[in-house]
Amino acid sequence: MGRFLNKLLKIDTIYTFNDLIILPGKTYVEPKEVNLRSKASKRYTINLPFISSPMDTVTGSELAIALAREGGLGILHRNCSVDEQVSMAKKVKRAESTIIRDVIVIKPEATVSEAVEIMETYDIHGLPVVEDGDRLVGIVTWRDVRYSDRNVTVSDVMTPKNRLVVANTEVSIDEAKRLMQRHRVEKLPIVDDKWVLKGLITIKDLELRGKYPMASRDEEGRLLVGAAISPYDIERAKKLDRYVDILVIDVAHFHNENVIKATKKIVNNVSADVIAGNLGTKEGVLETLTRIEDIAGLRVGIGSGSICTTGVVTKVASPTLYATIQASEALEELGLHGTIPVIADGGIKNTGDIALALASGASSVMIGNLFAGTKESPGRLIAIHGKYYKEYYGMGSARAKSKRADLDRYSKPSKEVDEGVEGWVPYRGAVKDLIRELIGGLQASMGYVGARDIYELWDKARFGYILPNGYNEIHPHDIIIPKGSNY
Ligand code: IMP
Repeated sequence: MGRFLNKLLKIDTIYTFNDLIILPGKTYVEPKEVNLRSKASKRYTINLPFISSPMDTVTGSELAIALAREGGLGILHRNCSVDEQVSMAKKVKRAESTIIRDVIVIKPEATVSEAVEIMETYDIHGLPVVEDGDRLVGIVTWRDVRYSDRNVTVSDVMTPKNRLVVANTEVSIDEAKRLMQRHRVEKLPIVDDKWVLKGLITIKDLELRGKYPMASRDEEGRLLVGAAISPYDIERAKKLDRYVDILVIDVAHFHNENVIKATKKIVNNVSADVIAGNLGTKEGVLETLTRIEDIAGLRVGIGSGSICTTGVVTKVASPTLYATIQASEALEELGLHGTIPVIADGGIKNTGDIALALASGASSVMIGNLFAGTKESPGRLIAIHGKYYKEYYGMGSARAKSKRADLDRYSKPSKEVDEGVEGWVPYRGAVKDLIRELIGGLQASMGYVGARDIYELWDKARFGYILPNGYNEIHPHDIIIPKGSNY
C-alpha cells in the first residue's frame, strides 16, 4: 500500500464537544456537595476550574481581580507594552493581601501635595513615612492631608512615631485585627526591631478576605494571577516574574523547535510556574515534557475558539476535546496526570462543554467568549437594537494584529494570514453572576455522574457518541423559543 492510501486508512476520528455526551452513573452526591477545587498549574490550586483567556477583549486587571475573587484565575493579555502588562499584574496583586510587601511610602520632607498625588495615583488612603533606609518615622493618611495646606510637609501633618500603632513581623492575622480594632486604626505597619518597615496590614484587606472566602490566593493572601508571554520575549518574562504566579507561553503552535528552545530558556530564568501551549497532540506533549523539565502545565486545543479561523484557513486543527484526551494520555504514560494539569482551551459554549473537557482529563478550562461578555472585560460595550453586546476579537485577527503593530512599528507580524475574526458577544453582566451559572451547571453534571470532585470525574465519567439526530433531540425542540436564547 502506498503512503497516500495509508493516510486514509490510518485516519483518526476526532470527537468534539458537540459529538459526545456523558452517561449518568449511580450517585451518592448532591450537586451542592460537589467540590470544584482544582489545579491551575503544578504549584497553584484554584477553587474553581475556570481560567480566562489572555486576550485584550477578555483579561485585563479588572476581570483578573473579579475572577480570582470568585475562585478562578485570570491570565493577563500581552497585546500591550511590557510596562502596561506589569502594571495590570501589580494592580491584581495590590487588590488585596494579608501583608502588603512592596509598600508605597513617602519621605517626611515631601509636600502634602505630593502625598495627595501618590494617594490618587495608586488609589490608596495611607502612606507610611520613612527616612534613611526604610526606617519608619510616621504614617500619613487621607484624613491628615484632605484639608491641609498643600505646601506644608508630610512631617507636619503625619502621625509621628511615638503615636504609631505597629506590629512586628511575627504578628498573626488575628492579633493584627485585634490591635487595629482596639486602637481604631485602619493600617498597621509591620516593622523589625530597628523600625525598618517590612510590610503593611490594612483593615480593608482583612475584610476582603472575609468577603471572598473562595478567592484564589497566594501564600501572602494576594490574588493569584497569570500573564501571557511570547517565548521570544525573555525580558518581558523576567519583568512579569516579580508580580505574577504563572506565565503562559502564548503561541498558536507550541510543538515547534524554536518555541521549545526559547521556552526552555525562559523556564530557566523565572521562578513563576510556566505553562506551555497551545498543544494538540500526544507527541507534542511528550516532546514538551521530555525536552523541558519543570513545565508546570499544558494549555491544549487548536482551532476550537469561537473567534478562530485557523481550521478554515489552514485545515489544521486539534479540537479542544480531542487535544485534552491526547494530552491526558501522554501524561498518564509518563505517570504525571494530575501532577501537571491540562487546561482545555477554546470552544467552551456552556457548562456541558466544561464537564466534558474535565471528564476528558483536564483540570480546568480556559474561556474567552463567555468572559468577554462580562462587565469586567476590557472590550467596549455597545447597544444594537436595544440589546447590549461587548466587542470580542481573536488575537490572530486583523484587528488585534494591527494593535500589536502600532505598539511596535518595527515588529513584523509573524504570519501573513489572519486566523481570527472580530465581532460582538451578548453582554452577560457581572462575572460573579456568570460564575454562579457555571458552578450550578457543572455541579449538576458531576452529580449525575456521581463524582464528588474533579478527580472522581476523571475516573467515573463514561462517554457516549451522539449522532447528529440525537444531538438535536438533547436540545430543546418542537417549541418556539425566543431568538437569542442560549439554546
Ligand atoms: P473561546 O472561549 O471559544 O472564544 O476561545 C478562546 C481561545 O481561542 C483562546 O484562549 C485562544 O486559545 C484562542 N484564540 C484566541 N484568539 C485566536 C485567534 O485569533 N485565532 C485562533 N484562536 C484564537
